[in-house]
Amino acid sequence: MAGLGVNIDHVATVRQARRTIEPDPVWAAAAAELGGADGITIHLRQDRRHIGDRDVELLKQVVKVKLNLEMSLADEIVRIALKTRPGQATLVPENRQEVTTEGGLDVVSQAVRVAEVTAALQDEGIEVSAFVDPEPDQIAAAAEAGCDAIEIHTGRYANAATGAETAAAVDAILDGLNAGRKAGLVVHGGHGLTYTNIERIAGIAGFSEFNIGHSIISRAIFVGLTEAVREMKRLIDRAEARTQRGQKA
Ligand code: PXP
Repeated sequence: MAGLGVNIDHVATVRQARRTIEPDPVWAAAAAELGGADGITIHLRQDRRHIGDRDVELLKQVVKVKLNLEMSLADEIVRIALKTRPGQATLVPENRQEVTTEGGLDVVSQAVRVAEVTAALQDEGIEVSAFVDPEPDQIAAAAEAGCDAIEIHTGRYANAATGAETAAAVDAILDGLNAGRKAGLVVHGGHGLTYTNIERIAGIAGFSEFNIGHSIISRAIFVGLTEAVREMKRLIDRAEARTQRGQKA
């Protein structure tokens, strides 16, 4: 069964809109866990636009499920990760102007740095995942760099405008999943996944984890975070059960 990592960055984004103390990501983590979250995902960005250093410290202390820290390869952020020791680190590209992570990490062109950061994190007992586009050379480079896992960028699937584009994006994800597993990597998926598009991807056997933020936090405004997480878990479980019975989503 694939686990659900709930990205709670947006909770900190609301707090930072007023630079106050609420809503608190720690409360969000507890509410998400009650809804069945298998992991809590946060991105400590260099510009600290949402999650801050104190959040990382507190969440490390209180989160009982896996804490997944999305992080760039910047020295300062690597130092914080090594000190905090989250259960998992997901290496992502970072561009100061972007609204959210735009593309996968270019592991190929930064292979030496990725290998160096991966080894340092693993020495502290942190599992390392690389967020990559479903491209064979990037997946091979992540395996060569010693990563434990990859997170396949599902944004192209999420943004597909036609049936043909969707089918091509699903094929690319499938190929990426197979290539990752063949290379001995654990395979996660994430970015742009919603209540309406998760089932097709969750119905593909072999994913270990999905990391979902925007859609869950958006739904939480209306039904509360615990219920929003429960609903997403239900869809993932339903898609997997359907696959096990040999039915299509
Ligand atoms: N995975 C990674 C690596 C991300 O950077 C993000 C966005 O922070 C997500 C998953 C979650 O994406 P979304 O908010 O679109 O669900």
